[in-house]
Amino acid sequence: MASELIERAMTYVKQKLEKEYSGHDFFHTLRVFKVATRISEREGVNVETVQLAALLHDVDDRKVSPDTYKTQANARDFLASNGVDESTTELICQIIREISFGDNTEAPTTLEGKCVQDADRLDALGAIGIARAFAYGGNRNRHMYHPDVKPNLNMTREEYVKSESTTVNHFYEKLFKLTALMNTEAARSIARERERYMKDFIDEFMAEWEGEK
Ligand code: ADP
Ligand code: NI
Repeated sequence: MASELIERAMTYVKQKLEKEYSGHDFFHTLRVFKVATRISEREGVNVETVQLAALLHDVDDRKVSPDTYKTQANARDFLASNGVDESTTELICQIIREISFGDNTEAPTTLEGKCVQDADRLDALGAIGIARAFAYGGNRNRHMYHPDVKPNLNMTREEYVKSESTTVNHFYEKLFKLTALMNTEAARSIARERERYMKDFIDEFMAEWEGEK
């Protein structure tokens, strides 16, 4: 049973991300919340802190809310108006800042942060990860696949942000690197399964592309 604070956070985030279609909609947050909870129970950390950070992790995201991205004002407002103390608020804000792929090459400094980052990354893998990648590509008018456009495995952050690569290339350029980047053993084992599923998908995709099936 979720605590009342968690219930309130869930309602808040739902309303905040209702109109978000950038791959960071409320249901993404809900999936991250569920998986982060699962991982944190295995890691023996403060589950409520992990849950709050998971729920609030995108409300000040650069793409979702560019004006509060630096101050984390949305997360802070929610926590302050719900009586969360200052040190817990700082911990949650730190966890959120340390999550993002690319902005941070170093692992999160807290175990709670590691759980949330792993859960966020897991949502880019598996069946959901495949669906999100093609939804993103469609939104940006990207090719699903193009035989002449090869993946670039060693892009700088700048190149990655500007990249006009295909969605299939994104699997190689980012998604297949995620398993090795998992912080917790629990997440790495889920990641392995999800990556296998994606590799099978790519094999099937290529066979169909070549007319072999
Ligand atoms: P985050 O903000 O969580 O680090 P992103 O905004 O990079 O994640 O990605 C959100 C979702 O969109 C992920 O599932 C990711 O795989 C997908 N995505 C991001 N960039 C691309 C891309 N170039 N091609 C296809 N999918 C992408
Ligand atoms: Ni996220």
